[in-house]
Amino acid sequence: MILKNINPTTTNAWKELSIHFEEIKEIHLRDLLNENPNRKEDFSIEFKDFHIDYSKNRITKKTIDLLVSLADQTELKNAISQQFSGEIINETENRAVLHTALRNINPQPIYIDGKDITEVIQNSQNKMEKFCEEVISGQRKGYTGKPFTDIVNIGIGGSDLGPNMVVDALKFYKNHLNLHFVSNVDGDHVQETIKNLNPETTLFVIVSKTFTTQETLTNANTIREWFLNSAYKEAIPKHFVAVSTNLKSVQEFGIEKENIFPMWNWVGGRFSLWSSVGLSISLAIGFKNFKELLNGASEMDEHFKTTPFEKNIPVLLSLISIWHNNFFNCETEVILPYSQYLNLFPTYLQQAIMESNGKSVDRNGDKIKYQTGGVIWGSAGTNSQHAYMQLVHQGTKLIPADFIGFKESLYGNNEHHEKLMANFYAQSEALAFGKSKEEVHLDLKFNGALKTIERLLPFKVFEGNKPSNTILINALTPRNLGSLIALYEHKIFVQGIIWNIFSYDQFGVELGKELAHKIFLKGKK
Ligand code: F6P
Repeated sequence: MILKNINPTTTNAWKELSIHFEEIKEIHLRDLLNENPNRKEDFSIEFKDFHIDYSKNRITKKTIDLLVSLADQTELKNAISQQFSGEIINETENRAVLHTALRNINPQPIYIDGKDITEVIQNSQNKMEKFCEEVISGQRKGYTGKPFTDIVNIGIGGSDLGPNMVVDALKFYKNHLNLHFVSNVDGDHVQETIKNLNPETTLFVIVSKTFTTQETLTNANTIREWFLNSAYKEAIPKHFVAVSTNLKSVQEFGIEKENIFPMWNWVGGRFSLWSSVGLSISLAIGFKNFKELLNGASEMDEHFKTTPFEKNIPVLLSLISIWHNNFFNCETEVILPYSQYLNLFPTYLQQAIMESNGKSVDRNGDKIKYQTGGVIWGSAGTNSQHAYMQLVHQGTKLIPADFIGFKESLYGNNEHHEKLMANFYAQSEALAFGKSKEEVHLDLKFNGALKTIERLLPFKVFEGNKPSNTILINALTPRNLGSLIALYEHKIFVQGIIWNIFSYDQFGVELGKELAHKIFLKGKK
């Protein structure tokens, strides 16, 4: 066994955390702040363009110490170096987990099956760079000699969500190319995407690590048929490229070898946007910006690898999330980016987090008796405030939140940005500190509602004490987005290690696929 098999609930740290939880579970964030006016500074971290404030969680210095002990006692440090050095930590699939190598600024050779992968990565990046430059500049043309205007990414899951989210998030940096994403095997989705496209000027990027995924292959075949209604077969190599590990099947589809961008088994689908799976990102924003995204991720990798746990952002956010999940029994976490650009970020994280840590068997193969991965949801604020935040503020469930915001807006419309950010700060304050009976009473009295005070009071009280983290970033740049995504990737890893599960397989998606295939074949008879 490569990763240690340690049941976290048997550690001393877990036992002490259970006792500590009983001591502080009723404590209110209002009191914690009153006791320590420096709480905000004491529970925050600065890292490059990032300011992380985790003071609005029901934690004390002792909680953090005990959680860090939990990380130590589950041998996190060792696991981190095992991951980065390419050990086979994805044991159930017999694979290393090296998406971090794709963005390593100072690569040391890492050998897999006797081959230095840093070389393969560099070659693939060179190929991507050349291809993107040719398409963007118009040097590479379609079958009638016209430059490309539209790109369609055909893929699903990790071959869609990451690229789609990043292209949407970084549209401020986009060039003239129009990007489209087809994922669902819903034919109407495909038709809606291609109905206004000109086959002469559209480039199709089929992204499938396995090149066996039903949705992607069905969509790719439908699109090829549509393309051949206008073009001849020999035009396919000019308009269809692929990202895959399955060279044989891609070539059988009609794509030429030189138009295949590599993927590797040591990169999981949901962690693959850093590889040539990110081709559509690089086409949309240019390779230079794509490289910036990688560099930002690399900076977070470095921070994660080298910073002591008590100041390590991914580690701390993981531990706090474990505190909520396993001690406060929180079932879900809400992700609230205060930027419309990041509206797809929670959806992207749903796959990254839930496909990784939705496991109920430990690394020994035994059924787990404690909670593992939580339910992730959310969308852009302030829209969320006018939709579901009522339940987070006054409902019966305790839902920890991550607020993600930017100091500056990209177009510099300060009036809007000040309003947006006022809401950003107001939400986490309202959740944490609430509004007491006394405050509500005063308000009602002030507004002349004396007669109705008694009746209205209970409905207007906010208990507060709802936990949240605030991730404040200078601006939404490719580099900062890279760091943000990497932060959550490492959070997933840390939680998987502590929960003693394998985060990098996803057998849970297989049964549905098998049954769908059987049902489909039965319907054909
Ligand atoms: O079904 C889940 C999954 O295997 C994801 O993990 C993956 O990202 C997605 O399907 C797509 O797989 P592929 O890139 O092989 O088409």
